[in-house]
Amino acid sequence: MSLKEIARRIKEVANIVDVIGEHVALKRSGRNYLGLCPFHADRKPSFVVNEEKQIFRCFGCGAGGDLIGFYMRFHNLDFVEAVRELARRFDIPFRLEGEEKGSQRHKALFEVNEKAQRFFSQMLWASAVGEEARSYLRQRGLSVETARSFGLGFAPPSYDSLASHLKLAGIELSLAEEAGLLVRREDGSFYDRFRHRLIFPIYDLAGRVAGFGGRIIGAGEPKYLNTPETQVYRKGSLLYGLFHTRNFIRTAGFGLLVEGYLDLLALYEAGIREVAASLGTALTSQHVRQMKGLAREWYLVFDADEAGLKAAMRAAPICLNEGLFPRVILLPEGEDPDSFVRQQGVRAFLALKEKALEIFDFLLEVLKKRYPATPEGKLAIFRELEPALLALKDPVLLDLEVQKIAEKLGISETAIRRGLRQRQPLKEPQEVFRASPNYLERVILEFVVHYPQFLSEFEELGLAEIFKEDLHRRLYQALIAAEGEISVEALSFEDLELQALLSEILLSPPPFEEVAPERVAAEIKGWWLKRRFKQRLEELLAAIRAAEASGQAEEALRLLREYQELRCQI
Ligand code: CTP
Ligand code: MN
Repeated sequence: MSLKEIARRIKEVANIVDVIGEHVALKRSGRNYLGLCPFHADRKPSFVVNEEKQIFRCFGCGAGGDLIGFYMRFHNLDFVEAVRELARRFDIPFRLEGEEKGSQRHKALFEVNEKAQRFFSQMLWASAVGEEARSYLRQRGLSVETARSFGLGFAPPSYDSLASHLKLAGIELSLAEEAGLLVRREDGSFYDRFRHRLIFPIYDLAGRVAGFGGRIIGAGEPKYLNTPETQVYRKGSLLYGLFHTRNFIRTAGFGLLVEGYLDLLALYEAGIREVAASLGTALTSQHVRQMKGLAREWYLVFDADEAGLKAAMRAAPICLNEGLFPRVILLPEGEDPDSFVRQQGVRAFLALKEKALEIFDFLLEVLKKRYPATPEGKLAIFRELEPALLALKDPVLLDLEVQKIAEKLGISETAIRRGLRQRQPLKEPQEVFRASPNYLERVILEFVVHYPQFLSEFEELGLAEIFKEDLHRRLYQALIAAEGEISVEALSFEDLELQALLSEILLSPPPFEEVAPERVAAEIKGWWLKRRFKQRLEELLAAIRAAEASGQAEEALRLLREYQELRCQI
């Protein structure tokens, strides 16, 4: 049986009310069951279990999903583990086809990574070529002790040091290729991906080597080279250093999130050990969940430049969505944690931590400096803050933030609320096409969840293109992958974010309840076709202009004809 089938069997025999009822005291209330949410500090019951649809949802913190999703969250399990335990409980045989193969592959990948890590580390400490890297470490102020405890290494300059080492050790080189360590040439031979670089092994929380980052020694491009996504190296769920620092974070009750490997190591060296680093990519909800599991109090450390602000803007809704309220430490222009702590010392760094602003205050401060204090400027600031505000699921907290923002911007709370309300239900389908793109995506998504019969038509028209927001796109693609089997029994997402969104949509009424779904579908298709035509026309116009500008008269004429034909069609 596949994992999906087992999940489905579980949901056919188990009742969500019974299972959740064993963990949370539930009281019947109309068609639902109500209780205190186990996923946030709930004062009044905002946790709803819907027996008919077999889903749960918390209106306070936004957690939601099916039975399996509840089990994952409550017991902190991944999808496979949750399905395994529930299968055991309900006497459903748990034998996965290909399971053995999959996990053996993972094991093999970790093993080859570990072999490579040992090789790199030997090259760093016990070889003559390693002297260059050892002296670079000294120059960056890192002690041998710190470098050793984080398993740092050195990849020699040649194209086949690791390849020949692994070959001698009897490793299948295609496995090392799959691990991202080697690259295959056209003639089928392999060469080392990491050459002449300082190597940072990236450990997962179980202490296994999932991948590597490699920094060029001295100046040069690219500064960093990293393992590409592999079956065990997933940037979206790994944080650098966390395996080594998590107990410090847990004990201290707070953590600092920095952006670079060397920033983490420099802070660690200076004695600040409650640190994790992102892998040079955007923060994801999986990262945030891990962080939140270790400590409630997190400080995001950013550079005071444009990139730093952008990173903070992006991180804010992701943290808030997971119920994490971070503070922001802003470093002086041109500094990063590494340079700052080495020049100014630990005291100065901790002083910055004391002055750290809450995320909304921080965003407001920065945005106020960038936009004029005119009505247009304030509106722009509000628009920038909107994603973070909308991520606040607790109505009380939303109220507080709205108050604060209104006060600081000098606009009325009503105006802010009116701005946010644009997302409330609309009566007529046409209205939606004038709303914000994000809202439009959301409505179309709600529509296909409630009326999956239109999914294949939409899919044929390539409607998937409209989904710009990552979560929306993921849910739409998951629905398409389910091939019309959109029922609560059939759908089990490993991804808790998808579960939460799906259960939120399922528990809300379908969009345009009063309008026949066929009509809504027709409106959506009409709108989309028109938009595609328009896009094509614009492309043609641009091509005509370009052809004219470069004197290709014939080409311009041909394009013009195409343009006119298309116009006639509309
Ligand atoms: N990064 C990356 N690829 C790059 C540049 C950066 O993966 N080409 C990632 C790395 O994880 C790096 C982080 O982004 O640690 C931060 O980048 P940056 O601030 O440029 O580097 P530092 O960590 O400050 O490294 P250094 O001090 O050596 O310049
Ligand atoms: Mn740096």
